[in-house]
Amino acid sequence: ASITRFPLIRVRGVPLMSYIANNFDSVWDFRPDPSDILIATYPKAGTTWTQEIVDLLRHNGDAEACKQAPTPVRSPFLEISSPPPIPSGLDLLNKTDPPRIIKTHLPFQMVPRGFWENKCKTIYVARNPKDNLVSYYYFDQMNMTQPEPGPWEGYIHKFMRGELSWGSWYDHVKGYWLEREKNNILYLFYEDMKENPRREVERIMRYLDLDLSDEVLSRIVELTSFKNMKENPMTNYSCVPAPVFDLSVSAFMRKGEVGDWTNHFTPEQTKMFDEDCEKQMRDVNIPFRSLI
Ligand code: A3P
Repeated sequence: ASITRFPLIRVRGVPLMSYIANNFDSVWDFRPDPSDILIATYPKAGTTWTQEIVDLLRHNGDAEACKQAPTPVRSPFLEISSPPPIPSGLDLLNKTDPPRIIKTHLPFQMVPRGFWENKCKTIYVARNPKDNLVSYYYFDQMNMTQPEPGPWEGYIHKFMRGELSWGSWYDHVKGYWLEREKNNILYLFYEDMKENPRREVERIMRYLDLDLSDEVLSRIVELTSFKNMKENPMTNYSCVPAPVFDLSVSAFMRKGEVGDWTNHFTPEQTKMFDEDCEKQMRDVNIPFRSLI
């Protein structure tokens, strides 16, 4: 089958792949149910990890039950938009009964208003920018629907200028941060999840008003380890219809580490990036432990 690397079209100033940009009105009109749970991230911040944790929490740690419910289509595809040839995210959502675990990479101001009006539980995950960028660079190589990443040095500049698909990382993390209290958004950090996954799983559990046993929590932490998720066909994205992902270029579960950026940035690139990052983040104090 042929596959398209979708060009980027700006909607309200944010570059989005054409399949979503051209359908943005129907995305904007989507009405969630108050019981729906939203997982929002800039791409590559730990979306899939968080989806798996939430799915297991809601199924009391029963991985088999997760495979059956809520539909034959697993929660990774319950996105307000999904690239063809994956069926339209909106179509899948409309065929699935609430409560649904919905993921989005849309920046806060472009998320359908119904999520906030209905007070849907929303989990945001942020990851330090240089690791996020490195992960996105590999993803753009292996995801044949994303725009071509081009050479590494130029990619860094595109990230800094907010020219990648879904827009500026800086605006994204700030947008949700500034809205977190008003909209009761649980704001998590990838680095915290790596440091103490059990603590963060419990945090998500409490946020979702669930109360699971120690034994079940331990099982969920184990099932959502990088090693287990890399082997699990439901989470390593080997289930994504070919040829969307070329897993021979890069695995979806690639490395799963903090600090992989040190293997990619030269000292000059680090200096340039960090100086720019400090400027772009000056107006908000988000407690990243390793912003630069
Ligand atoms: P790397 O490319 O750095 O390995 P997303 O799901 O938002 O697309 O994010 C994917 C990134 O999260 C990848 O980062 C992937 O390896 C990492 N990841 C996924 N599951 C993980 C887990 N259980 N533990 C640690 N990292 C995980």
